[in-house]
Amino acid sequence: MIRGKRILLIISGGIAAYKALDLIRRLRERGVLVRCIMTRSATEFVTPLAVGALAGERAYVDLFSLSDESEIGHIRLAREADLVVVAPATANLLARMATGLADDLASTVLLATDRPILVAPAMNVQMWLHPATRANVATLAARGVSMVGPNEGPMAEAETGPGRMAEPLEIVAAIEAKLGCGPLEGRTALVTSGPTHEPIDPVRYIANRSSGKQGHAIAAALARLGARTVLVTGPTAEPVPPGVTAVPVETARDMLAACQAALPVDIVVCAAAVADWRVGDRAEQKLKKGGEGPPQLTLVENPDILATLSAPSPHRPALVVGFAAETEKVLEHAAAKRARKGCDWILANDVSPGTGTFGGDTNTVHLVTAEGSETWPTMSKRDVGDRLARRIADHFGSAQ
Ligand code: PMT
Repeated sequence: MIRGKRILLIISGGIAAYKALDLIRRLRERGVLVRCIMTRSATEFVTPLAVGALAGERAYVDLFSLSDESEIGHIRLAREADLVVVAPATANLLARMATGLADDLASTVLLATDRPILVAPAMNVQMWLHPATRANVATLAARGVSMVGPNEGPMAEAETGPGRMAEPLEIVAAIEAKLGCGPLEGRTALVTSGPTHEPIDPVRYIANRSSGKQGHAIAAALARLGARTVLVTGPTAEPVPPGVTAVPVETARDMLAACQAALPVDIVVCAAAVADWRVGDRAEQKLKKGGEGPPQLTLVENPDILATLSAPSPHRPALVVGFAAETEKVLEHAAAKRARKGCDWILANDVSPGTGTFGGDTNTVHLVTAEGSETWPTMSKRDVGDRLARRIADHFGSAQ
């Protein structure tokens, strides 16, 4: 439960500071104790009076205020919280955090705190994409600072791209996840992602175009909602999402073994593009061109991980979700696949050439359940992950 948790909210000076007011309200509604620090520039956008009135406690601004120091002191401010949240986090404040500057109350508290930190960046697109900001973000991530957003969309300067602060409810969800209080707290999840590589000989393999973006986004979303999440992933360039335990594998058989080792779990999502076949007689040495023409490869069927995990057993996960990658009759084939493999839900996506589903950043999925199907609008793979994770949380919420 998030009720009763103490959040130290640091508001820095960007136009998104007005959203901090809604964030405070959302947190207070949930019974969270919110104490606020504002940078000087934040006070140009929203007043300490408004922040203090919503928080139910005055907002702190000055480092060198005698009364503040005697009343609470910056070290107590830094330590008396379960989580420090910086929203909005401007490029300037991220840079000061990365370099360890302590030149105002906000940066001093951020340097002095021993509490976990969550930042919600908000800035102009070019500032977000600037190599200096990229480096600062990487430094902070390496130090364990968590991040929510920024989102893509139209911005104050009529530019579009990444840089919009995450919405207050997204920040609340990230806070819940960071504090282990999300709606999936206490649940365990297993996600498969990426392609498998099936060796032909020591240097060649059969593979497919899966990038792992979709599966990794789902694992990240489940973890954000508090699920203890294991990600069994084929070879991909995708980074392991924060808070997720990754198990890298190569072949379909490795993937099955890793999934079985992760059981029991409550939730399974099979997003991996598992090779249906492997080379039965893989060569121990590199195949050579000879006079006898090209080698004949004999393919044998791989185990079906989704069907195996869906099969009735005392350890069957409560909810098993598969994917269906189709190029025609998408809904019809997906419904048949759901029944054949025995999973509870299937997310059908069209992988025809030109859709960009394999490897791209967006996806158009249809959720097929025993009750019927619904089509979700085209959205980023991250948003597909969030929507699926929330749907799973609702499923468990209503099942209780
Ligand atoms: O990785 P990205 O580039 O982001 O692309 C995402 C995606 C297109 C790979 C993803 O959205 C997707 O559709 N994943 C499933 C790909 C697939 O193999 O679909 P399928 O229809 O062939 O298989 C149906 C289901 O059975 C899938 O859940 C699959 O993981 C599972 N399966 C398939 C074969 C097998 N041997 N074992 C399995 O578990």
